[in-house]
Amino acid sequence: MSGINGARVLVTGASGRIGVVTSARLQRAGASVTALSREENPALEADRIIVGDTRSQEDVARALEGADLVVHLAALAHRDIAPAYDVYTTNVVSTFNVLAQAGARGLPRAVVAGSINSYGLPQNIHEVTPAYFPLDTDIPTDIADWYSLSKRNDENTARMAWRHWGIDVVTLRFPHVNGADNLAAIAEELAAAPRDGMREAWSYLVTEDAARAVELSLTASTTGAHAFFLAANSTLAPYRTEDLLQRYAPGAPRLRRFVEREVPIDLTPARELIGFEAHHEIPLETLDLPDDL
Ligand SMILES: NC(=O)c1ccc[n+]([C@@H]2O[C@H](COP(=O)([O-])OP(=O)(O)OC[C@H]3O[C@@H](n4cnc5c(N)ncnc54)[C@H](O)[C@@H]3O)[C@@H](O)[C@H]2O)c1
Repeated sequence: MSGINGARVLVTGASGRIGVVTSARLQRAGASVTALSREENPALEADRIIVGDTRSQEDVARALEGADLVVHLAALAHRDIAPAYDVYTTNVVSTFNVLAQAGARGLPRAVVAGSINSYGLPQNIHEVTPAYFPLDTDIPTDIADWYSLSKRNDENTARMAWRHWGIDVVTLRFPHVNGADNLAAIAEELAAAPRDGMREAWSYLVTEDAARAVELSLTASTTGAHAFFLAANSTLAPYRTEDLLQRYAPGAPRLRRFVEREVPIDLTPARELIGFEAHHEIPLETLDLPDDL
């Protein structure tokens, strides 16, 4: 029996790409989902559906009625999806509003959608390279855009909420999350232009695995506020990781060797803190990296 069986879980951003799959998964595990999003989605399975704004104190208070746990996914999920002011303020105000109200009500735990962008390099406008590989929770940050800044600040908000109200918060620094078909199409793009994936460590996660990570985070015994990377074990590029790093990040120290197409991200915290291991991989044949790429 799942640890969330019988619990009421508020899922913000439930109508979105990750939210629909997560809500269905939580409902299947026996939870009653309250969905809060700014638009409806016919594919959404939830016990209670609220159309509202996560920046609104009233809407969030209404959505939290009876909730035992919170999954906060609502965000403007890309730098260029809206004006900079809207992306930044929507994300940081929403996260503060949701976690502060959940904490003040005495809820024990929240799970927040963070991002690989919180270390700042994937969307950086400069020619920067990660300080080393594998990416880990200590990797130096260099933030040059407002979406990445919002995700970084959300991690600070989570820590503050834990320190102030004692609410445990797991922030999942998702890589690119999508359905298998979309990821297969991106794999083709990366095969032609592998340099483009370097600052994301060519990482990805199938949406079902993202939803499973959320469920594991809700039931894990870990306490405090944690933010960490998670990804499929292999990369979305069809070339060996060592070859990719040698070609596209020759100056970045490698703290260990990578086997075949192993993703160059430290997945230890995801394993140790929530017991997460990705179940889905995009099947790719491993190729030699062509000289002309
Ligand atoms: N999909 C990815 O590749 C990816 C990668 C890293 C992090 N993330 C994060 O995961 C979360 C979910 O991403 P997604 O891909 O499902 O995004 P999405 O754009 O598909 O869904 C976003 C959801 O947030 C809701 N929302 C946005 N602003 C809102 C507001 N002011 N009030 C209420 N609801 C609001 C939308 O209605 C929608 O339901 C986001 O926090 C995103 O930053 C996603």
